[in-house]
Amino acid sequence: MKAKAVKMADGVYWVGVIHWHSRTFHGYGIPGTTYNAYLVFGEEKTVLIDNVYRGMFEQFDARVKDAFEQEGKEFKIDVFVQNHSEMDHSTFLRQTIEEYNPDAEIYASANCIKFLEAQYHNFSDLEMNAVATGDELDIGGRTLKFISAPMLHWPDSMFTLLAEEGILFSNDAFGQHVAHSKRFDKDYSIDYLLREAQKYYANLVTLGSPMLRMKLDELTNTGLINDIKMIAPCHGQIWTNPGPIVEKYSEWGSGVCKDKITVIYDTMHHSTEKLAYQIAEGIMSEGVEVELYFMQEDGPDDVITDILDSKAIALGAPTMMNKPFPRIGNMMYWLDCVNFKGTGSEKNALIFSSKGWGGGAVAKLQNDLEAAGFTVTDTLDVLFVPDEDVMAEAFEKGAELARSIKE
Ligand code: FEO
Repeated sequence: MKAKAVKMADGVYWVGVIHWHSRTFHGYGIPGTTYNAYLVFGEEKTVLIDNVYRGMFEQFDARVKDAFEQEGKEFKIDVFVQNHSEMDHSTFLRQTIEEYNPDAEIYASANCIKFLEAQYHNFSDLEMNAVATGDELDIGGRTLKFISAPMLHWPDSMFTLLAEEGILFSNDAFGQHVAHSKRFDKDYSIDYLLREAQKYYANLVTLGSPMLRMKLDELTNTGLINDIKMIAPCHGQIWTNPGPIVEKYSEWGSGVCKDKITVIYDTMHHSTEKLAYQIAEGIMSEGVEVELYFMQEDGPDDVITDILDSKAIALGAPTMMNKPFPRIGNMMYWLDCVNFKGTGSEKNALIFSSKGWGGGAVAKLQNDLEAAGFTVTDTLDVLFVPDEDVMAEAFEKGAELARSIKE
């Protein structure tokens, strides 16, 4: 196979792979993705930063070889830097070491070294160097600075800064699951990329928001933030203009939300659906933005993306056998997993339901939403099909929820 490496700066190449047909990752839907790896040529040492996922070695290897050919250098890697151990960035690490230099130096966080062995069970014979914030490596006219980044998004995550060029190899942080032929942010619409980055952040990074805030403070206080001219994540486009994505990460990680409410519902005989639409109308009547999702057809990943910057949600499910309609349960588990409260945002919630007789959905959802960090401000529990009076009540409850979040 032939595949071209993409030059990012003098002696710095993208040598990752494009996984065009990948449609799911970490349980959520994606339109394809890339696994980005980078080759950096110093005057003395050549460095590979990160690796790729299963089934992707041929494309990766072809690109690595092309970078060597572009540089006119022998196929030899002196240093392997592994910023994170998850398999999409490490599957062929051992194979690449064997092919390009079994005596190479290897650098990773202490957790990464531990996690690699626990996943592959074939690293214990290699000497691996544990590094953390403050450690540096001179590769000949160029310096790699290691920056620990635990929980962005695993405990082993690390950033590597190529100091002279100001290129931050950030691994999963600042990524997007997109699969395109061009590699840089400037090749696509910034609004589109930031939306994909928001989906990625909401579903994969939200839990690490407290650590993100600490890391951004640390980068600011040490002045390193001003040295970063380019951010090269392990998925998606490379940020040649890091400003917008750093600003967005700062907002998402600290709970900055819009006057926006996400309405989520499921329905059995369309009664809960009628309530959802009427609540949405009430919210809209107050000039507040609404996103609405029907869980029979929509994916929780998109819902999570919109909840990230919503100040409130309205969650509806019919009662079935004294409990919420089961399909809403998947959504509820996701809400519990991601921990929006960790961003610092306080999100209100309205719960609505249609029941046949005794009910039960509202009580269960209230309990679950409060456990997930939401403040349940109101409920609407309706017997069978809503009549005009109930529809008016639903409209008013939507309007009241909207008023509750307006500054
Ligand atoms: Fe893209 Fe945590 O792996």
